Amino acid sequence: MRAIFAAGPNPDDPLSMVRVGERPEPEVSGGWVRVAVRAASINRHDLWTLRGVGIRAEEFPMILGCDGAGVTEDGREVVIYPVIADPAAVGAAGDETLDPGRRLLTEGGHQGCMAEYVAVPARNAVPKPAGMSFAQAATLGTTYLTAYRMLFTRSGLAPGSTVLVQGATGGVATALIQLGAAAGMRVWATARTEAGRARAETLGAAATFEASARLPERVDGVFESVGAATWAHSMKVVRPGGVVVCCGATTGADPSADLQRLFFRQISVVGSTMGTLDEMQRLIAFCDAAGVVPMVDKAFPLAEGAAALEEVEHGSAGKVVVTV
Ligand SMILES: NC(=O)c1ccc[n+]([C@@H]2O[C@H](COP(=O)([O-])OP(=O)(O)OC[C@H]3O[C@@H](n4cnc5c(N)ncnc54)[C@H](OP(=O)(O)O)[C@@H]3O)[C@@H](O)[C@H]2O)c1
Repeated sequence: MRAIFAAGPNPDDPLSMVRVGERPEPEVSGGWVRVAVRAASINRHDLWTLRGVGIRAEEFPMILGCDGAGVTEDGREVVIYPVIADPAAVGAAGDETLDPGRRLLTEGGHQGCMAEYVAVPARNAVPKPAGMSFAQAATLGTTYLTAYRMLFTRSGLAPGSTVLVQGATGGVATALIQLGAAAGMRVWATARTEAGRARAETLGAAATFEASARLPERVDGVFESVGAATWAHSMKVVRPGGVVVCCGATTGADPSADLQRLFFRQISVVGSTMGTLDEMQRLIAFCDAAGVVPMVDKAFPLAEGAAALEEVEHGSAGKVVVTV
């Protein structure tokens, strides 16, 4: 079958490892199902994979794409829930994200969605929302699910809160703006470009600012996926007793912790990763109830996989998908 895959790791030149070519079709057994992929979305995670982060050398070649949408062999239109966890390890809390053995598609030998077919556990093939295209639904499993958990499970913030989303053009940031605004939060956002700020306002941001700008007032919560480039600003602009929720560190994972500000202003710093299957189902119900449709900025055919990944690596491209 045709696929976009990483031939091996290259920390310095990840795009040189992208290949578009033939890979074996996935075999399914023991409660797994085969999905004919219609669309897969690109995440920063794919660029980490190409760099060799979070994947062992012997796992290459690896088909890229943590999340996607398609059709099962019995004709059901589905969206992929990308977290592969041991249900026995999930425990009474039902939280797959806390299973120490948890893997995503493209990790632990599980091939990804940027191919004609992908194999997933049957529970990971979730009914596709009727009002979304395959391309829109393909974005739900990683960026929208991560944003949902950050906003509604991890932050402790209620509707009416004022929040800041850093790096508004990114995939997770896009979802944070849309979902936060739809839930009745006053969402402010930073972006490095004028185009990025204008896009954030069309997504529902009440106000936008240049990166590191002084804000009119401190915010109840800051949502971080940028890391070192924005962390100092995040710690400065959160109000005393507020919360900084972090899911990623694209620009570096070791900024100053700013401990003096942290304890003196009693700031909570909360980590967040992906989401549970229950949160995925509630995300879909929320999008339906609130009329949220995921943003897709650019779609590339599978054959143009290298160009699609280049957009994400180099540009403020927003959300990019690959159609199959
Ligand atoms: N923990 C989890 O479960 C989870 C899930 C999803 C993603 N993540 C992580 O979260 C991060 C974001 O993922 P994503 O897919 O949303 O990535 P993305 O779409 O590639 O986000 C990139 C955005 O980050 C901002 N940015 C990049 N470099 C910057 C810089 N030097 N200064 C300021 N802002 C910069 C930019 O926003 P502007 O152009 O608007 O300034 C850019 O659009 C990644 O590190 C990813 O691994 C984690």
